[in-house]
Amino acid sequence: MTRHFLALHDYSKEELDALLALAHDLKVKQKQGIAHRLLEGKTVALIFEKASTRTRISFEVGVFQLGGHGLFLSSGTSQMGRGEPIKDSARVMSRYCDGVMIRTFGQEIVDEFARYSSIPVINGLTDLFHPCQIMADLQTVIEHRGSYAGQTFAWIGDGNNMANTWIEAAAICDFELRLACPTGYEPDEAVLAWARAKAPWRIILTTDPREAVAGADVINTDVWASMGQESEQKEREKAFVGFCLDDELLSLAKPDAIVLHCLPAHRGEEISDSVIEGNHSVVWDEAENRLHIQKAIMATLLK
Ligand code: CP
Ligand code: NVA
Repeated sequence: MTRHFLALHDYSKEELDALLALAHDLKVKQKQGIAHRLLEGKTVALIFEKASTRTRISFEVGVFQLGGHGLFLSSGTSQMGRGEPIKDSARVMSRYCDGVMIRTFGQEIVDEFARYSSIPVINGLTDLFHPCQIMADLQTVIEHRGSYAGQTFAWIGDGNNMANTWIEAAAICDFELRLACPTGYEPDEAVLAWARAKAPWRIILTTDPREAVAGADVINTDVWASMGQESEQKEREKAFVGFCLDDELLSLAKPDAIVLHCLPAHRGEEISDSVIEGNHSVVWDEAENRLHIQKAIMATLLK
């Protein structure tokens, strides 16, 4: 059966740990100039229905470094954007390529693509999940804190695709996650219910950012209006007052806490310039690790 990477909940802790270990190994190899051409001659289609800087570059560069070829496709320039059914695109691409990455809107789109695809499908972000990003974030936490085990994670802001994926990660990998979201902007209910059934004591939801950050090791935030929600920006700015990760809020965390942000960041909104540029911030390592973890995911699924 073809294995996909659509959501973390399809993976066990052991499988996620194996991907993280391979990502570390590939990172070392790449830095030392040791060949790791695990996708020699393979082609990966990279479908973007939303904008991207990191995801596009890290997948294209990653597949190249593995000896394969990445094929950029946008909805505006392919028949997908003109209404060709997902299930048809999935079966056609399965005849040409060895793997597919998709960035799109509804999770049901990647799920449907995967149902009809005979090659592995990787979720490069949907409205519901961003699993490649959270894997890169876990790799970054391991690099800076030794392990994710025993760390307290805080999420400040919107209950969005990033928050939902963190919730799945906390339940699978068994760490404490405290989410502070404004009323009306909570994470997905089904995701919360799934995680709470698996690890009831691990997920704490509050509306108070100070409560979430107090004594935390890893602080994470993201934009208030995600892609597709641009028209809600003004209304969200009002709802998210008090949710800026600034020096005052960060001072409540552990003295050696690290700050994550998947980027792009809006300085002065969800994060202050001084925090993202400050010495707790590990956002550039985090962005780099997209490359390494995605190489591990592609190498594992496409081998
Ligand atoms: N973090 C992230 O996915 O960035 P892009 O939107 O630039 O791909
Ligand atoms: N939550 C953001 C993440 C961007 C990488 C969005 O979906 O736009």
